[in-house]
Amino acid sequence: MERWSETYNEAWKVYDRFSECEDFEDNAFSALLKNINFVGKTVYEYGCGTWKYTNKIADLCYKLYANDISPLMIEKAKEKCAGKANIEYITASAESSGLADESVDIIFGAWAGPRFDGSDVIWKIEEEFSRILKVDGSIWLFENYLLGEFSQMRGNEHQPAPAKYFLNQFEKIGYRLIEYVPAHWRFQDIDEAKYVCGFIFGENGESFFNAKGCPIMEDNIAIFSRAK
Ligand SMILES: C[S@@+](CC[C@H](N)C(=O)[O-])C[C@H]1O[C@@H](n2cnc3c(N)ncnc32)[C@H](O)[C@@H]1O
Repeated sequence: MERWSETYNEAWKVYDRFSECEDFEDNAFSALLKNINFVGKTVYEYGCGTWKYTNKIADLCYKLYANDISPLMIEKAKEKCAGKANIEYITASAESSGLADESVDIIFGAWAGPRFDGSDVIWKIEEEFSRILKVDGSIWLFENYLLGEFSQMRGNEHQPAPAKYFLNQFEKIGYRLIEYVPAHWRFQDIDEAKYVCGFIFGENGESFFNAKGCPIMEDNIAIFSRAK
């Protein structure tokens, strides 16, 4: 089992190191900016983690509500985004934002929160999104497409008909695929790549980078969106 769940406690530090490993061409965020304009907008970022996109969005938008269920993630985000006065932090599960009805223009989440594990939380989160979103607002998500080196490293590239599986899951909850963006994750060196991915993804992480011999991992990021 992947160790994301432990990011809620002591393993958050390893997660933070993963978030420091940039998509070095910043392809996904650039593609997002071609689709939406954050300038002057009120944004709710759920599952913000320690800062990766929080930091970038805060520089563009009017007001950013940065949410995460983990107090440790939020604490670190506050430290890394220090001085950005337009960020308000919300430590809660994403479905309990505490925000007013129709008060946000954009909701954004990158690999955030519960997804297809069969729990009801996903529906509660979607209901909350619809409640807080303005009538002309929109929701934008980053997810990993199930093909490419990242999926290979995680050991889930063998999903039968990955494109169909992936689209079905998102379409079920009302999203449409905007585009797939090729991206590259670069760790500072091979030892860092092996440590971080080995910790989070188990043996697969280490053996993948042993075989690859360099700290760069290709990925395909899928951008999904829905209106209110
Ligand atoms: C894979 S990390 C992604 C973090 C960040 N968006 C990024 O791209 O670096 C998933 C994040 O979702 C948070 N999370 C998990 N369940 C959540 C929930 N129900 N509500 C809000 N945040 C949640 C975790 O604490 C973690 O910070």
